[in-house]
Amino acid sequence: MKKNFFRKLSIWATAGLFATSLSASTLETEEGYVPSAENQQSREAFQDDKFGIFLHWGIYSMPAQGEWYMNNANIDRKEYAKLASGFYPSRFNAREWVSAIKASGAKYICLTSRHHDGFSMFHTQYSDYNIVDATPFRRDILKELSDECQKQGIALHLYYSHLDWFREDYYPLGRTGRGTGRTQHGEWKDYYQFMNNQLTELLTNYGPIRAIWFDGWWDHDQDPDFDWQLPEQYAMIHRLQPACLIGNNHHQTPFEGEDIQIFERDLPGENKAGLSGQSISQLPLETCETMNGMWGYKITDQNYKSTKELILYLVNAAGKNANLLMNIGPQPNGELPEVAVQRLKEMGEWMQVYGETIYGTRGGIVKPHDWGVTTQKGNRLFVHILNLPDNGLFLPITQKVKQAVEFKDKSKVKFKQDKQGVLLLFDQIPDEVDYVIELTL
Ligand code: GLC
Repeated sequence: MKKNFFRKLSIWATAGLFATSLSASTLETEEGYVPSAENQQSREAFQDDKFGIFLHWGIYSMPAQGEWYMNNANIDRKEYAKLASGFYPSRFNAREWVSAIKASGAKYICLTSRHHDGFSMFHTQYSDYNIVDATPFRRDILKELSDECQKQGIALHLYYSHLDWFREDYYPLGRTGRGTGRTQHGEWKDYYQFMNNQLTELLTNYGPIRAIWFDGWWDHDQDPDFDWQLPEQYAMIHRLQPACLIGNNHHQTPFEGEDIQIFERDLPGENKAGLSGQSISQLPLETCETMNGMWGYKITDQNYKSTKELILYLVNAAGKNANLLMNIGPQPNGELPEVAVQRLKEMGEWMQVYGETIYGTRGGIVKPHDWGVTTQKGNRLFVHILNLPDNGLFLPITQKVKQAVEFKDKSKVKFKQDKQGVLLLFDQIPDEVDYVIELTL
């Protein structure tokens, strides 16, 4: 009791000292991060959504070699910046983007508001290097997109790069962007303030932002003394929009103050791309993946995954209790690539039929296996059979199974149950992309 009183007193004292910056941060750093009720609700809604579309769009779409081109080709920052004055995405239409994305069944969009090249795809007061002030297009595409998302009822998330290959106050330099000609250097505290100012704009001028998706932390992973000052930044975000989820693509186990755990190019528990291996936390999970091979538009990359592969990726993610954030790199003219739009449409056709076995579910009681995965909503267990060379499937379920039906047409499926589990029996070897059996427990 007494201890508590003194602790509170010290919180008030700290708060008093920094009266103007009195914020959740004071409380969060002293007491540990406790997500607000709004935040908890938002986490649930996020998990229920299961499927989002990532959009990597910036002036890098013009050279059309992906979003790392400035770094990879060691382009001088002043030369690179000239791209801006030629950027005129004449076919950009937020309504068409959102409609095409909604048609896939995706429930949220994550747009790159500012990528590593440092160019802001929104109207910011804190730098002229932005889509309104530095391009002849002069339209705040983020404003148009956020309005349209609200109109069509789809959540908006924003990617934000912590590192910057353009600004000279991003200093000390990290391990990337060494060839972009930043010869002077400014102060880290100015850069940190700049980021917080921009984040404040993003969380003030564009309606509800369901998540901020950070990236670039790893730029300083070889410098153990470097401090990104994340706790204060995270607290500021939660103060501005308590429901806003914070994710950070640092490839580590989540840090305090984060609300979701992100995996890049691998489902939780896998590590084929070499960016994972971190332990899986209790936070809502999300895996991001590219539809072809690149995040930003690459003109020669036509290596699109098939609709079947994309559906399998989504189902496997859901079975591992994770969301899928599938990426598209819009073209420099403002359109989504035609192949991507086709894939979105076909995924949507599948989701029309099977969405109920994905949305609102969590990973099921039967763990992922070679034959497939399970998802679950209350006492409804959806068995997603993806690869079964047999016409029978044994599931180690000890709970009593009341009924087994084919999800699509509700026809009865034969089964036997004993103490070890349930044996499902099919008339033939399943050959659908995803043969879904619904069990009532
Ligand atoms: C990597 C890349 C970045 C991309 C991100 C998406 O961190 O640096 O270009 O935006 O992955 O997951």
